[in-house]
Order: sequence, then structure tokens, then C-alpha cells
Amino acid sequence: MAGSISRVIFILCCFVTSEQQNILKKDAFDSVPQLIMSAGYPVEKHRVTTTDGYILQLHRIPAGKRTARKTFSAKGKKTVLIGHGLLGSSSDFVMMGPDRSLAYSLADEGYDVWLANLRGTIYSSHQNYTKNNPKFWEFSFHEHGKYDLPASIDKVLSVTGVSKIMYIGYSMGTTTFFVMASERPEYNDKIISFVALAPAVYFANIKPIAEWLLKSLKILDQLRVQGIQYLNVRQDVREMIIQSMCYTQKPQDNICARIIYMFVGNDEEQYNQDITALFLARFQPASFRQFEHFGKIAMTDVFTSWEDGLWGSVRKYKLSNVRVPVTLLYGENDQLTEKSQVLRLAEELNATGVLEDVRPASSWSKFNHLDFVFAKDVASIFNKPLLTTIKSLFYKYG
Ligand SMILES: *[C@@H]1O[C@H](CO)[C@@H](O)[C@H](O)[C@H]1NC(C)=O
Ligand SMILES: *[C@@H]1O[C@H](CO)[C@@H](O)[C@H](O)[C@H]1NC(C)=O
Repeated sequence: MAGSISRVIFILCCFVTSEQQNILKKDAFDSVPQLIMSAGYPVEKHRVTTTDGYILQLHRIPAGKRTARKTFSAKGKKTVLIGHGLLGSSSDFVMMGPDRSLAYSLADEGYDVWLANLRGTIYSSHQNYTKNNPKFWEFSFHEHGKYDLPASIDKVLSVTGVSKIMYIGYSMGTTTFFVMASERPEYNDKIISFVALAPAVYFANIKPIAEWLLKSLKILDQLRVQGIQYLNVRQDVREMIIQSMCYTQKPQDNICARIIYMFVGNDEEQYNQDITALFLARFQPASFRQFEHFGKIAMTDVFTSWEDGLWGSVRKYKLSNVRVPVTLLYGENDQLTEKSQVLRLAEELNATGVLEDVRPASSWSKFNHLDFVFAKDVASIFNKPLLTTIKSLFYKYG
């Protein structure tokens, strides 16, 4: 595995081709509000400034398609906020189009849907630093949880007038919630219930690879020396990679798919070339510290804060500060946020009485880390049962 990862890194850094085909559709680079509008849904943009000066854009779908052209009142509606994962953005929940994306399904079911954008995405900026300033990138999901999510929740509450919302997090979007509960426990009072998709808290499964990358290879240190502060692949290079590696006649030649499977678990049946290309085209930059912080958690095997750095002291986040009902959904074939690690988290939450449920996200046995958002049949194998879960949680706690 280690060998293949270094090959991947080599390919990402050095791959060049002059081939130009126009595989990506015109709307591949549309903004999320543009996508939502084209899909025929009402959309709103809201800005919020965190207490440490980051400006974040929230995207809102206040009503479903059917009610879009009527005058509607979102007042008193059931409100859901969705938090994206590493390298993702609000785009992840609309990218599959109206028939398959979670955000649209929720809106059609009558929910007031809000999509967060954490610092680092194209929908974020800072009062005083541009993204060329290394200071902009001095954050991990610690800051996402301590500042971004609380500010976003307060914004949703103040615009809608509701007193509590449901939070759905995907992957790092769940880590963010657990950090918030630990560091800002007063935010428990603003949440009806938390649904964690592919919860990312424990990583004993990737401890060897994290140690190899961070300790032996010192890969991020090397990049920093070269003045690279955060992970971002130039748009033109990204398009070349997509066009030359992600589109093949034979599935077994698809390098893209094989690289992705290595990280997230093999699931050929649910793999879709067009969606993968879109997903890669819409990749968001990430600070090195986000990777290093996950690495620190993997290496120490403690859900620890960043503190004084990768090799610094270990301070366990207080999972016991979570006071809302938590539903944990895992993929049976997820290699990144593995079932065994989710069950560990479940046990800890159960001990303080906040575990609502822990179960497979889907009856599809090959369900992997990306299938939560990008499976070909995501609507039937995942969204549909999830909507039932959300409905019953609102009924029980809302
Ligand atoms: C941004 O700069 C202004 C003016 O110098 C300063 O008052 C403010 O505290 C700064 N904000 C942050 C978050 O650094
Ligand atoms: C949670 O704890 C109770 C006992 O307190 C136990 O009966 C139950 O099986 C536990 N559930 C999980 C998922 O660990």
C-alpha cells in the first residue's frame, strides 16, 4: 500500500500530457448556487464571519422543487444543516443532480436545507489574510469545530428563527461536530440530533500508513520546505489527470478508480466515471494540518486535539461532552473510517447514554467511504433509508 501511495503522489505531482478532450461537462465548474438554480430549486447564499476572522458562505435550499415557484414560508420548518468532508464542500450534496443528491431529496421532503462550507473551501475567505498567506492555512478540523460550525449554526438559527436544528455530518464533517461538542458544549442546546455518516474519530486501521507518511517520509515537511503550504492541484493539471486517467474503455484500465479504491474500499458496481470526474474537478484545497491532525490521531490512537503540533502533547477531546442523540452510520466496506473504529466510538458514546443507534449505512455490502455521497444508486441504497431515519429522529426529538 505504501508503495502505491508514493506512486500516486508521483503521478499527481509530475503527470503531464498535452491531450485535450472535452470530457468534463460545461457545468463541472459552476458554483453550487448556480447548480441548485439550474436544477430548478430555490437557493440562498448566507455569509457568516467567525470570531477569528474567517468568512464562510452557507448555501440554503429553503424549499423543494414543487413549491419553488409559489411563495413559500420557510418559517418553522424542520431545519437540517449538512457538514462536508475533507476535500469536499457544499457541492458534495448537490453534485449528483436532483434525482440522487441528498440535499434535493431533503428539500423535496419539506426540510429547510442548509449546506455548510468550512474554512479552506472556495466558499471561504479571511478578513485580513489572502489564501496566499500561510497564516490562512494554519488550521485543522479543530478550528472547523471550535469556530466554523458554531458560527454556521448561529447563522442558521438567526435566519430561520428556529431554536434547534438537526446536524448531519459526513466524514470530517462528523469530526468537526465532535470537536465542537468537546470545546463548545453549549452548542448541544442548539442541536436536535446528530447523524454521523462515516464518522471519523478513530483510525487504528491507518496507523501504519500514517506513521510511514509522516514519520519516515516526512512528506509534508518536504513540501513545506518547497514553499507549498496546502494541498491543491492546479485546475489545468487536475483536468489533465481526469482526462487521461479517469476515462477508459475497460474498467480494469481505470487508474483513477484503482487509486480511489485503495483508500476508500473497492466497489466497482457503484462506480461512475462521470461522477468521479466531477468529484475530482470539484476537489477543494486542504491545509496540511488537516492531514497531520488526522495523522496525529491515528499515530497516538487517541482522539486528541492538535495542541503544540504533530509530535506535541496529547489532549483527548471530551466525547463525554456530547449531550445530543447520535446516530452512527458506517459502510461495511469502508477502508477509511472502518467499522471496527466506528464501533469503538459507539461504545464510548453508549457509556454516556447519547448513542441513539449504530448500524450499517446501507444494505449494499460493498458500501465504501465515497458511496455515502457518490454511489451510482445512492438514492435507493442510501438516501431513502436515511430520510426515514431523519424523519423518525425529528418525530422523536424535534
Ligand atoms: C484584522 O485586522 C484588523 C485591523 O488591523 C484587526 O483589528 C482585527 O483584529 C484583525 N482580525 C483578525 C481576525 O485577525
Ligand atoms: C449500550 O449499553 C447497553 C447497556 O448499558 C447495552 O445493553 C447495549 O447493548 C449497548 N449498545 C451498544 C450498541 O453498544
